[in-house]
Amino acid sequence: MKENNSKDLKDIMNKTRSILLAGLLAGMGLMSCNSGNIRRNPGKIYAPDMTYSRAYDAYTSNPNFADGQTSRVPVTGTVAVGHDLPDHLIEGDTSAYKTFNTAYHFDEAELKEGGRLYMIYCGICHGGELDGNGPLYASGKFPAMPANFKDAKYQAMPVGTMYAAIKYGKNLMGSYASQLDIKQRWQVIAYIKKVQSENGGAPFMMGKTAEAATAVATTKDSASAQPAAPAETAHH
Ligand code: HEC
Repeated sequence: MKENNSKDLKDIMNKTRSILLAGLLAGMGLMSCNSGNIRRNPGKIYAPDMTYSRAYDAYTSNPNFADGQTSRVPVTGTVAVGHDLPDHLIEGDTSAYKTFNTAYHFDEAELKEGGRLYMIYCGICHGGELDGNGPLYASGKFPAMPANFKDAKYQAMPVGTMYAAIKYGKNLMGSYASQLDIKQRWQVIAYIKKVQSENGGAPFMMGKTAEAATAVATTKDSASAQPAAPAETAHH
């Protein structure tokens, strides 16, 4: 009985296979018949609702809005979910830059993300080693020396001034405001400050709770510096 069953099954499978094969050959035959240069029949559309969107496509004109555009800007005064409130810095107000700071605390994973973003957006100029000698500058194709973050001048640079450089650009460096949102800018800065702290800069404070930062500061000169305490994540 069992053997019979499996034999039947095999028969059916063989049959199915030859039907499929025949179908395939017939289909190919038909296709080759229809390959003249003039195609009058556009063919059948499998899912017309997907091919022809019932919604307005992004760049099509739209009779529902006074300006006729389908793409809308966010409503004035609103902040998208998961995004930060605006920072209220004013371009050129360098004394405000100096005191500008963040409430963000970053954990190790977020610092790593800062490093990743740095390599994408900054390393080409400022260098993977943060020494201002990135491949673009080293190639001789970029005329201005990017900041060398290992230099004392930049090690002492306030985080808010760095933030302003990312947001507004600085001389030949363009703005990265459209590529990095507020949190990402701080992640990149935290990464830079961390590397600076490992290269003779001030102890790394960003991304640590106040207590952990004090602990780092007091153990700075002792030979057995404590490993960083787990950082607290920001709740925004
Ligand atoms: C196309 C090359 C280029 C890229 C990419 C670039 N920079 Fe710069 N950056 C420069 C140059 C050049 C300067 C020096 C500007 C000056 O002082 O004239 C500079 C200066 C700076 C300064 C010092 C600002 C100041 O006030 O002196 C900071 C901080 C900085 N960059 C951060 C960044 C960060 C963070 C990124 C990535 C998000 C980045 N840069 C990407 C070229 C670049």
